[in-house]
Amino acid sequence: MGSDSGNVQKREQWGSRVGFILAAAGSAIGLGNIWRFPYLVGKNGGATFILVYLIITVLIGLPVMLAEFAIGRAAQKSPVAAFGALKVNPFWSVIGWMGTIAGGFLVLSYYNVIGGWTIRYMIASFTGLMDAAATADQSGAFFGSFIGKQAEVVLFQVVFMAVSMFIVLGGIGKGIERACKVMMPLLFIIVLVLIARSVTLPGAEAGLDFYLNPDWSKLEDPTLYLDALGQSFFSLSLGLGIMITYGSYLGKDERLPSASLWTAGLDTLIALLAGFAIFPAVFAMGFEPGAGVGLTFITLPAVFAKMPGGTYVSFLFFLLLFFAAVTSAMSLMEVATTFAIEKFSLRRSDAVWLMGIIIILLGGYSSLSLSGPPKITIMGKSKDFLDAVDYLCNNVFLPVGSLLACVFVGYVWLEPAKKELTSDGKFAFPWMGAWTWCVRVISPLAIIYIFYMGLAW
Ligand code: PHE
Repeated sequence: MGSDSGNVQKREQWGSRVGFILAAAGSAIGLGNIWRFPYLVGKNGGATFILVYLIITVLIGLPVMLAEFAIGRAAQKSPVAAFGALKVNPFWSVIGWMGTIAGGFLVLSYYNVIGGWTIRYMIASFTGLMDAAATADQSGAFFGSFIGKQAEVVLFQVVFMAVSMFIVLGGIGKGIERACKVMMPLLFIIVLVLIARSVTLPGAEAGLDFYLNPDWSKLEDPTLYLDALGQSFFSLSLGLGIMITYGSYLGKDERLPSASLWTAGLDTLIALLAGFAIFPAVFAMGFEPGAGVGLTFITLPAVFAKMPGGTYVSFLFFLLLFFAAVTSAMSLMEVATTFAIEKFSLRRSDAVWLMGIIIILLGGYSSLSLSGPPKITIMGKSKDFLDAVDYLCNNVFLPVGSLLACVFVGYVWLEPAKKELTSDGKFAFPWMGAWTWCVRVISPLAIIYIFYMGLAW
């Protein structure tokens, strides 16, 4: 490997096509797939939502991902330095700066906190969670007392972050790629095992009914489209410079369109499967599915506590969540790391330490805010720091970052982007016309719509 300082070093590349796709899918498949997607399906009319989500992902999410891959591969630089390397107006570097600050620092800082919870719950599955969570109320009390113990929350946040840092220290091939090649297949197997457990419980059909029964009247409800759009961007890890960063480690022999199809396809598959693992069990055990953190850390432990073999099912579920979270966290960590390597000419190891410590400190603030006073008021609503950062990223940075990427690729850098998508004419891309339409017209309009509606919430 030799010295890995700054720009002089030869840029590392993914070791294999499969490794790159698993890493990109690892970033995309995260907490959003396991708790948010299934819940949104249930809330928005089952199969109706799935259909709209698929259409939106193909027409809007995929084209933006392709744009990000193209920028990254053409520039072979971090998102902040990429636009300089493409020799365009320096204004466009704003995409890289915003993505790095929002993704590498803000999103990662609170993602770590939740990642830490998954480790705590894995351990707790064997050490009393099943007794403590005999009813939903008791399970809620367990969760409340855990997040109230500041030292413990911070400790697990640091442990989780240390795992991501350790992997990113290894670099692209020996770190991220190798970790994803192990964790992603395991994640897939765990989902299948959990589905098998869940659908064989007596009374599981009610859950399948809730999850999949199409309610076409929901098509008239605008929140369905809003939910689907927001979820598609978040789930595909768009708008934060991640796919630019991952694309920058690719060579010209990779077909970008098929890579993005694989990434989005695997992401959607795991999201759909997560619903089959969760809802049949929730209904079979007589619970109501709620949203988000409540469903994952309060309802599900109570569901597991009631079922035969619950201890192991609980452990497996939180292990699944841990794998999903850590492979996403490392992609965010890599954005911060490449930034520091290029901007300050640091060695990778120094960059990881420096960025890691800053992110841990920020996350510490999120952790403490869960049980203490630091509250922030946004649009008249008081939120703790973790919620406020989450809100800001999902409703502002993510859509604005994606919108700028579309406008940049669609109107400023279209011809070079087209060349990039075909690897300078080496591969055919029959969908070029459709893609151009999507990045120039359909995606920007749709994003402006979510941005506007999201702020109005
Ligand atoms: N895609 C991840 C998920 O579904 C979340 C994420 C968003 C990760 C943006 C990195 C960047 O949970």
